[in-house]
Amino acid sequence: MSYPSAVKIVEVGPRDGLQNEAVSLDIATKVELIERLASCGLKNIEAGSFVSPKWVPQMAGSDEVFNQLGASESVYTALTPNMRGLERAIECNVKEVAVFAAASEAFSEKNINCSIDESLAKFEAVIQKASTANIRVRGYISCVAGCPYQGDVDNHRIKDIASALLSMGCYEVSLGDTIGVATPEITERLLTELLKTIAPLKLAMHMHDTYGRAIDNIKQSLAMGIGTIDSSVAGLGGCPYAEGASGNVATEKVIRLLDELNIAHGVDLQKLSQASQFICEKLGRPAFAD
Ligand code: HMG
Ligand code: MG
Repeated sequence: MSYPSAVKIVEVGPRDGLQNEAVSLDIATKVELIERLASCGLKNIEAGSFVSPKWVPQMAGSDEVFNQLGASESVYTALTPNMRGLERAIECNVKEVAVFAAASEAFSEKNINCSIDESLAKFEAVIQKASTANIRVRGYISCVAGCPYQGDVDNHRIKDIASALLSMGCYEVSLGDTIGVATPEITERLLTELLKTIAPLKLAMHMHDTYGRAIDNIKQSLAMGIGTIDSSVAGLGGCPYAEGASGNVATEKVIRLLDELNIAHGVDLQKLSQASQFICEKLGRPAFAD
């Protein structure tokens, strides 16, 4: 078994973490969190969502967050479900956006109010316009290991959706285990299917840690050549349209795994712990402990 020598971490706490918190934070606190995370060496940070504020009120201030963020070496990404979202991103001078599809029809309808095929048609237009505006686009597929509404999902269908997103112009596709039901065996079967036609460096893993299996699943993915891992400071997170989706795997845990496996990551764990304490205090949560 051979692991990659270096891994890219995509920090999703300010978006996936905060979108599901009952406490709504002010803009200054969100900006401070993102800038603290950038100063830890995290080069890719999801900073907000340009979705409907009626659907996800916690992300309503994302325009202001992006406008207030200072210049940084880190790339700040925003979720954009449609053209309206992309237009907001362009107004805020965002350099990278993410579109998000699902592996199950039921989840697609609940999360973005359209079928998978309808979502792909919308994304194609969003990706085309983003590319003319020089904005990079990341793709997501949710519920890759199971759906809270319809149960099983089909790995062939997931491969087709990932291929479609890549051929439309996404530079990578992140595979979301939205409700944390994956096991290393499920992860292995999923990746075995996708890697038949997709290069490992085009894929990322986005594991929620509902049943405490995210680290084992990530280890499995790394062994199969995946080099990008999404995670969330202090394990914040969930999805408002997936009941039971607890936090994303904690960035602190991922860093510890990478250190154990001797994989380079470029993140200062001590500074990260301080950023973690900062946000836990603001949310009135106990400090994160492994
Ligand atoms: P819809 O109701 O079908 O949209 O929602 P619509 O086009 O009919 O518009 C309805 C209203 O929303 C209109 O306003 C639009 O202007 C407004 P009204 O006339 O009623 O006042 N609207 C917008 N406002 C601001 N920004 C926009 C926007 N678009 C429409 N971009 C829509 C469709 C996609 C908008 C909605 O379903 C939505 O916002 N969904 C987002 C849900 C979401 O953010 N979920 C969480 C993120 S995904 C996730 O967490 C999973 C992930 O982490 C991976 C994993 O874990 O698996 C990525
Ligand atoms: Mg998520």
